[in-house]
Amino acid sequence: MKIGIDSIGFQTAGYVFQLSELAKQYGIDPAKYEHGLMQKQMSVASPDEDVVTLGYGAAKQALYDCDDVESIKLLIFATETGVDQSKSAGMHLHRFLKLNPNCRVFELKQACYASSAALQLSVSMIRSDPKLKALIIASDIAKYGSGTPGEPTQGCGSVAMIVSANPKIMEIEPYSGVWSADENDFWRPCYSEVAFVDGKHSVQLYLSHLGNAWGNYKRQSGLSFADIDQVCYHTPFSKMAIKAHNELTRLNEVECNEKVNSTLHYTPYIGNCYTAALYVCLLSMLGNSGVDVSGKRVGMFAYGSGSVGEFFSGIVQNGYKQRIEPLSGSIQEALTSRKIIGFDKFREFYNFWNDYRGADVLTPAYSKNKLRLKGITEHKRVYELKDA
Ligand code: CAA
Repeated sequence: MKIGIDSIGFQTAGYVFQLSELAKQYGIDPAKYEHGLMQKQMSVASPDEDVVTLGYGAAKQALYDCDDVESIKLLIFATETGVDQSKSAGMHLHRFLKLNPNCRVFELKQACYASSAALQLSVSMIRSDPKLKALIIASDIAKYGSGTPGEPTQGCGSVAMIVSANPKIMEIEPYSGVWSADENDFWRPCYSEVAFVDGKHSVQLYLSHLGNAWGNYKRQSGLSFADIDQVCYHTPFSKMAIKAHNELTRLNEVECNEKVNSTLHYTPYIGNCYTAALYVCLLSMLGNSGVDVSGKRVGMFAYGSGSVGEFFSGIVQNGYKQRIEPLSGSIQEALTSRKIIGFDKFREFYNFWNDYRGADVLTPAYSKNKLRLKGITEHKRVYELKDA
């Protein structure tokens, strides 16, 4: 039985900041960001956008032609930007998406890896109950300290996927290679809004996990690099995917850059969206390959700091284009319709919550999206659904 991604959706924030502006503020050569990191812009969440509101937009897109929402019995919200230490962000969306009360809802965390853990978990659950459908929402807002090397890699976005039997987009193959190790390359203590990172160590660790997970995948699957047609990598900034691909081709003693290029159409304009980042690359590859990739095998490398790496693969299904073509149009539209902000507004959004920790607040109405965070009352998040 084939099990995998049946439908997919994407959402990013309504505001965007040019990295050339950031470089100007810090007196850094803009080429460092544009060519060194291969990043041009970052999506910036306004105070009334959060992982729930971004996740709502992505989920609505994934559900757009789902005529049996009742059959979704599992909602996994994958994030490292949780809005509550106890309640899953998915609980808010269970209501707004009008999901079945018989649906399991929970949140998963292991840095950027949680979305891929959610995918594998869903596939296993569907294998034992093929009627079950799962909704995975990967949603994150990447935030680093002002002036730190991580700052130009900030960004945000959400990808939602319906996982089912007989998927229309990509079958997930039954083998994968995993490599885990207790490390401190990137982490965010509960008291901190921003992540801490040992940047150079994180890049090295990512690459060594890639090698180890790939070795493990090869042994589990019996496949070789020649059997993989395209590779999507977890991409915190676009140069990281190039470094990863160089490493994988070096390990396999081949040269073939065309296996990664089509995965990088969106990330330079969005920035890091942690759990969603790998799936943004998958969307990019499916929508921008220039050729029909039906039947092709896609290698997927998930990496979550702290640290877990997993290499798995999927087979693109015939007819995937029918789903992806309209979506690619709306992704372009989402990117071009964002409002460009200058450095002062960028800082204002960045610092907004510092003044309101624990206090009641009504958030200014910045977001043009359907669901917005209206404010916080008695420590409860209050969302507003337009045209509800
Ligand atoms: N013109 C062109 N290129 C330039 C340049 C210039 N004037 N100046 C520097 N560069 C190049 C450098 O040569 C370098 O390129 P290579 O890596 O190809 O050699 C690149 O720009 C970056 O320069 P530095 O290495 O000096 O940059 P940095 O130390 O200031 O920061 C970073 C880089 C450590 C990755 C930092 O952005 C960071 O900490 N990012 C957050 C952590 C991260 O994303 N880690 C990735 C792996 S962990 C992970 O993937 C999980 C996750 O999502 C966080």
